[in-house]
Amino acid sequence: MASSSSLPLAAVFLFCYAFAASSAATPRFLSLVQPTPLVLNYHKGPLLNGNITVNLLWYGTFSPAQRSVISDFFLSLGASSPPSPSVSSWWRTIGSYRGGPRDVVLGRQAFDSKYGLGKSLTSTQVRRLARRLGTGGNAVNFVLTAADVSIEEFCMSSCGSHEYARAGRRGARFVYAWVGNPVSQCPGQCAWPFHKPIYGPQGPPLVAPNGDIGVDGMVINIATVLAGAVTNPFDSGYYQGSAEAPLEAVSACTGIFGKGAFPGNPGAVLLEKTTGASYNANGVSGRRFLLPAMWDPTTLACKTLV
Ligand SMILES: *[C@@H]1O[C@H](CO)[C@@H](O)[C@H](O)[C@H]1NC(C)=O
Repeated sequence: MASSSSLPLAAVFLFCYAFAASSAATPRFLSLVQPTPLVLNYHKGPLLNGNITVNLLWYGTFSPAQRSVISDFFLSLGASSPPSPSVSSWWRTIGSYRGGPRDVVLGRQAFDSKYGLGKSLTSTQVRRLARRLGTGGNAVNFVLTAADVSIEEFCMSSCGSHEYARAGRRGARFVYAWVGNPVSQCPGQCAWPFHKPIYGPQGPPLVAPNGDIGVDGMVINIATVLAGAVTNPFDSGYYQGSAEAPLEAVSACTGIFGKGAFPGNPGAVLLEKTTGASYNANGVSGRRFLLPAMWDPTTLACKTLV
């Protein structure tokens, strides 16, 4: 019934491993993170098109400041006023996939601040939580879990995932996703490059643009999962590799944030002088975000904003 496309935290480390395995004499620039050209095949299934509603369920404790970072990311996807490079220019690459430009609308927000299903969730429970946001419409229901919630797979094989299920026995399919706050459970896996990685080459961590390693890490994972959910909602859209462990629009570009990225190094990004924070995308309300590269079907390469 449900299908899962995890954001493979392993990908970064596989690349790192590939780097470590190449001989020490190999110049670093030879171990490029992506083969060129990179091809994500289209598997002839439906994508999410047009106006896509994103609904949010906040599970556990999130401060208003944390919620506003994440809401502002979603609101920035379609905002034309922030200066370039902007979140909306990052999202515009999605328009090069079949189906053309997509607009994201922030829809319902629900709260379970009392941990109604406990602090250790199975994937079935995550699906139950996602259903609370409704199962109709052209939507992605995001379940966002607080730092003290553990989830099957979280930190073990993924930092977030998107899946689909049926609304009822014969109901229509609906798409949902989860991303957890990794700050205390696995910042080296799911909040890199704001925390030093657990394996591989150790560059200095970057300063998080909104001053919150966990939430700024969540934005990276939310961006990854959203792009995957839109371009591969039912495991029959764009991906490379097997349907069970696909590399999708952004997960195919894992670890790349700016030009010149190589394993352990996110690439050249912008620096905010006063705070030392790293970012590559402007958003609404003067916000800044660090967003991962996205595969561009027109150039067959991972596209960076800066
Ligand atoms: C979304 O809806 C608005 C308002 O109806 C419309 O102007 C816009 O073109 C739609 N966007 C897409 C991508 O279909």
